[in-house]
Amino acid sequence: MPHYEPWSEERARTVIEEFSHLEGPLMPMLHAVQETFGHVPDAIVPMLAEKLNVSRAEVHGVVTFYHDFRHEPAGRHVLKICRAEACQAAGGDALTAHAEHKLGCKLGETTADGRVTVEPIYCLGLCATAPSAMLDGKIVARLNERRLDALILEAQS
Ligand code: FES
Repeated sequence: MPHYEPWSEERARTVIEEFSHLEGPLMPMLHAVQETFGHVPDAIVPMLAEKLNVSRAEVHGVVTFYHDFRHEPAGRHVLKICRAEACQAAGGDALTAHAEHKLGCKLGETTADGRVTVEPIYCLGLCATAPSAMLDGKIVARLNERRLDALILEAQS
């Protein structure tokens, strides 16, 4: 389970500074911010805009366009369910509905107890053994209700 640092503007400045030498640094900066704090807080938008000399709207547009960027702190465990084509064709819709029902929250949300965040992901490269999911970075293929229940139980423990 990943451990994230509490938000700190000073720490955020250090994190984004590490990538300022890159050409096209916005995406690496956003990923680093999420890896550090577990999400991309709104407060980073003006900081990045100023640093990169672009508008806040531009930064905000990138943050909201990519599904990978989380806007709220994640739960203790993150369950990602593949929502791309091959997994959908292999029963992904029903599995997603099952997970939402079991967890009592929708994709993109965190359970009320803060234990599990469930998110969509778009292809894990395991289309041949679809449907797939990932719990805290561990990939699971050939998902079915029984295996999904086991993952949810693991995430809730
Ligand atoms: S579509 Fe789900 S792993 Fe490729």
